[in-house]
Amino acid sequence: MTDPVIDVHLADDHAARALATDARAGLSANPKSLPPKWFYDARGSDLFEQITRLPEYYPTRAEREILGDRAGEIASTSKAHTLVELGSGSSEKTRLLLDALRDEGTLHQFVPLDVSSTALRDAAAALAVDYPNLAVHGVVGDFTEHLALLPGEAPRIVAFLGGTIGNLLPAERAKFLSSLRDVLEPGEWLLLGTDLVKDPSVVRVAYDDSAGVTAEFNRNVLHVLNRELGADFDVTAFDHVALWDEGQEWIEMRLRAQRAMTVHVPALGMEVSFEQGEELRTEISAKFRRPGIAAELTEAGFEVTRWWTDSGDRFGLSLSQAV
Ligand code: SAH
Ligand code: AVI
Repeated sequence: MTDPVIDVHLADDHAARALATDARAGLSANPKSLPPKWFYDARGSDLFEQITRLPEYYPTRAEREILGDRAGEIASTSKAHTLVELGSGSSEKTRLLLDALRDEGTLHQFVPLDVSSTALRDAAAALAVDYPNLAVHGVVGDFTEHLALLPGEAPRIVAFLGGTIGNLLPAERAKFLSSLRDVLEPGEWLLLGTDLVKDPSVVRVAYDDSAGVTAEFNRNVLHVLNRELGADFDVTAFDHVALWDEGQEWIEMRLRAQRAMTVHVPALGMEVSFEQGEELRTEISAKFRRPGIAAELTEAGFEVTRWWTDSGDRFGLSLSQAV
């Protein structure tokens, strides 16, 4: 086994500094909001893994089904030397791709990138044991900032799985796709997982499960603010809300204040007031239709060459090539 190499593009105080900037802007806005990347400290990453196993949370199982059916075709089409994975988390489903690319005989390197240092290190260590002939080169970084620093020999295939692209706002999504296109050479590949528009009741329960794990995941961002910025949020005083937005075709997670309160955030020198019932938006999770995501990929400079869905038509996986 070769020990994994880990590049850290986030300084030790990055979480505190970047979170401070985002929290200052988001908590003084009306309505209040925070970017979803701040869920993922060690506890948040662990809660997300628990979510993927919930009976109501279908996206992980649906995407795994597609990868199980199509990984061989993806490997033989791309013949990639490097697999890059953005927002890699535990890289559990990615093993299907690693196996197929290994069988194809082309793969040299795996480059997982995640903002969550613990999730990245745990995954890289486990993969280095299970794939002793693979060079694992992890990157602790932000996929909205650090794409230009990605290592790896061409041709590369960049996997962005789980539907995480849906957690970006439409303008952020467009910027992300064109930045990704800019760092790829023509002919390199993007494998993109997108959750699909479906009956809203199915989506709603996936984001408001009966065991309350998603509620804990949602509230975790307040624990992060308390720890990193010295804030004094009473985490138990916020209710989890999952709301389907029919016009935008996204599900929105919010935290609703049960009572009026003032929260102190010493690192920002701020006092933040909440009215009773006031909501803080913590995540959007956009759901896609094939023509819409195909148009966004084309606009960013990709040619969509394959499109697959699971047997329940719940989740879509597209394979595109940089033009
Ligand atoms: N790809 C995995 C994990 C999805 S959870 C799956 O399909 O199951 C989303 C992952 O993206 C988390 O591990 C989180 O830490 C990471 N993430 C969220 N925002 C990020 C950002 N801006 N840059 C890098 N990683 C990010
Ligand atoms: C990571 N991302 C795709 C998840 C989603 O479904 O939007 C995060 C999540 N939020 C609530 N449950 C899961």
